[in-house]
Amino acid sequence: MLVGGQGTRLRPLTMSAPKPMLPVAGVPVTAHMLARARDAGIARVVLATSYRAEVFEEYFGDGSAHGLELEYVTETEPLGTGGAIRNVVERLRGGPDDPVVIFNGDILSGLDIPALVRRHSEADAAVTLHLTEVVDPRAFGVVPTDADGRVTAFLEKTPDPPTNLINAGCYVFRRSVIDMIPAGRPVSVERETFPGLLAAGTPVMGYPDSTYWLDLGTPAAFVQGSRDLVTGRMASSALPGPVGDCLVLPGAAVAADAKIGGGATVGAGARVGAGAAVDGAVLFDGAVVEAGATVRDSVIGRGAVIGAGVLLDGVVIGDGAIIERDNELRAGARVFPGAVLAAGAVRFSSDRT
Ligand code: GTP
Repeated sequence: MLVGGQGTRLRPLTMSAPKPMLPVAGVPVTAHMLARARDAGIARVVLATSYRAEVFEEYFGDGSAHGLELEYVTETEPLGTGGAIRNVVERLRGGPDDPVVIFNGDILSGLDIPALVRRHSEADAAVTLHLTEVVDPRAFGVVPTDADGRVTAFLEKTPDPPTNLINAGCYVFRRSVIDMIPAGRPVSVERETFPGLLAAGTPVMGYPDSTYWLDLGTPAAFVQGSRDLVTGRMASSALPGPVGDCLVLPGAAVAADAKIGGGATVGAGARVGAGAAVDGAVLFDGAVVEAGATVRDSVIGRGAVIGAGVLLDGVVIGDGAIIERDNELRAGARVFPGAVLAAGAVRFSSDRT
């Protein structure tokens, strides 16, 4: 499981925690992914860490509390997706032809993992990729396949893509193919390893699957993923509560007349004041939403304080930031950790930080 990226698109949330450790629906993204792996019969996972490596082992330990055997391999410099896979090769067990399942650590997906592995084995492929269909593939690299499901190309972003299928960030590698990735330098599987395999005529298979899939890389997707877990649109055995309209974690205090809904999460020790509305938003642990404030489709960092009457819609507030009363932020605005916005100081929207 690759969990070493910088998560630049989720800044400033990823300034204090790596993306795979940010809580969606109450627990880290990685906890949901590990639960899916375990539920699929995977017993042992190696976490390839780099950025903020130490926090993974602090949280997950040897994995026994999660029903898994976990190991950690930390890169001294970030090696990219392919380099990270190569870097854990010593820890992989099994023979040269055995399948190794690789997960990008920021994906929520209902993929049938055993079916992906079966497909790989039946086709005797070098690599088998989970592919997912998106409505508008122009912003992605697309992965066309032939009638037998064999991948014919890896096409970078193009205005006129020949297919809606994109790389969904979960792969099965034949173990010996990992040995062939160059060691000790950054390698991208998407840009180097996969195109190289195709050029050499090695069989690379696609496994299209139309179950739930979401890349949690952007703030909007992060909020969406959390909502989908809370409301049960995406099932996860790691969800720390029943499926419903909202998830309120132990130790949170919510005023009786506050409105929490739309799949919102209220973190441990967070507080929501009288008459406040939290709609589809994610409040990290210890966040405070004061009386009459409205927080919609936003992420509120740990211990951040949202003042009375504030309106937030589609924004990211860093850990410990203070938004005093009567501010209004919308549509992509981001506030750095620890920043203070004085009362009534801003009414702004669209991607300002
Ligand atoms: P952005 O900077 O916002 O693009 O996010 P990211 O750093 O996570 O990059 P991206 O989403 O492309 O990464 C896909 C997956 O690979 C994520 O799970 C990352 O954690 C992981 N990843 C990316 N680069 C590295 C790396 O150098 N080492 C390791 N171990 N994992 C990586």
